[in-house]
Amino acid sequence: MRPLFVRRARQLVTLAGSSAAPLVGEQMSNLSIIENGSVWIENGTITAVGPDDELVRRFADRLAEAEVIDARGKTVTPGLVDPHTHLVYAGSREHEWTMRLGGATYMEIMNAGGGIHATTKATREASEETLYEESKRRLDQFLLHGVTTVEAKSGYGLSLEHEIKQLNVAKRLDDTHPVDVVSTFLGAHAVPPEWKHDREEYIRLIIEEMIPEVSRQGLAEFNDVFCERGVFTPDEARRILEAGKAHGLTPKIHADEIEPYGGAELAAEVGAISADHLLRASDEGLRRMAERGVIGVLLPGTAFFLLTNAAHARRLLDAGVPVALATDCNPGSSPTVSLPLVMSLACLHMRMTPAEALAAATINAAHAIGRAHVIGSLELGKKADLVVFNVPNYVQIMYYYGVNHAETVIKDGKVVVAGGKVRV
Ligand code: NIG
Ligand code: FE
Repeated sequence: MRPLFVRRARQLVTLAGSSAAPLVGEQMSNLSIIENGSVWIENGTITAVGPDDELVRRFADRLAEAEVIDARGKTVTPGLVDPHTHLVYAGSREHEWTMRLGGATYMEIMNAGGGIHATTKATREASEETLYEESKRRLDQFLLHGVTTVEAKSGYGLSLEHEIKQLNVAKRLDDTHPVDVVSTFLGAHAVPPEWKHDREEYIRLIIEEMIPEVSRQGLAEFNDVFCERGVFTPDEARRILEAGKAHGLTPKIHADEIEPYGGAELAAEVGAISADHLLRASDEGLRRMAERGVIGVLLPGTAFFLLTNAAHARRLLDAGVPVALATDCNPGSSPTVSLPLVMSLACLHMRMTPAEALAAATINAAHAIGRAHVIGSLELGKKADLVVFNVPNYVQIMYYYGVNHAETVIKDGKVVVAGGKVRV
């Protein structure tokens, strides 16, 4: 493989120096930007990062053999990392959106058999091949927006057979698609209709059958629970997350989205790597999260799409909770793949600064899925995952909102998007 030399970015945003622990508070404003910066890449790995003249001197005798990407006037960042998605699903739910726009609530629709239940039905009925094809199209779209790693949850199978089918699709995508896919088991996304009258039996199935089998087959790294009134209680969530821990699955949690429910507290208690949503998290819950270093994954696209107020990021930042951002890409509450749009919303609706939003969608997002040692910043030895945005500074990625500025995407040292088109 020829070396790849990304040269002379107007802003090379490296986020260097934050691989050991997630950024908190004021640290989130320090992006370590190099002007007229360049990156030398060999065999999929970053071998040098610095001002262009320095790298030119250092690699003078090898310049002729390198493939050069000219980033003059543009902004180069680490590949974006999306730490919370429901990538693998079948079907679509725009009819529910029309109902919500007319005044129905998300929970009302779900309790009437729509919502997660509707997608579960469609996902169960879909063949593995259809599920793969539909999810692959979404993954291409992620890549086109500059996202090079996504976390992907199950949770639309809700039986051993169909949860495994979903996780198998995620694994195949990870194996075949340039985007890296990191899997989370979310058997506790909802109690499926067949167990509605015996929820305890469904929880037993999760704990005694699904978790052991998912872990035995190595199909997930994380274990998540939708902890919300009417879905899973904090006590149920605790049992499920502890069971996962006993099988080597690290806890994550959908917490305090709709009402304060003790989710943030539980995340700290079980030592979750992240607690996600957090719109209604209590001050005490946030304090405990900060103490245990639990990352708060905020999902402003979901609040926007559900017509609710977003989480107030400053509350988390002031409490010392490390913040990451994610799309929550799913067919009901956030049908988007645009992490850059989510970054704009984080600034507009959550009061984050553009610098914080970028740190939250790169290095802190990498921490939220246990990958900060390999991705999330542009540093010696890390995977060469980079995005060239066709804007002169990183703020414009978010300022000119709703527009895809990603022009070139490099994954593992290979140009996989060029001129805004997937090239595989
Ligand atoms: O993260 N909150 C629970 N689950 C998803 C929504 C899933 C769906 O509506 O299909 C979420 O928002
Ligand atoms: Fe979610």
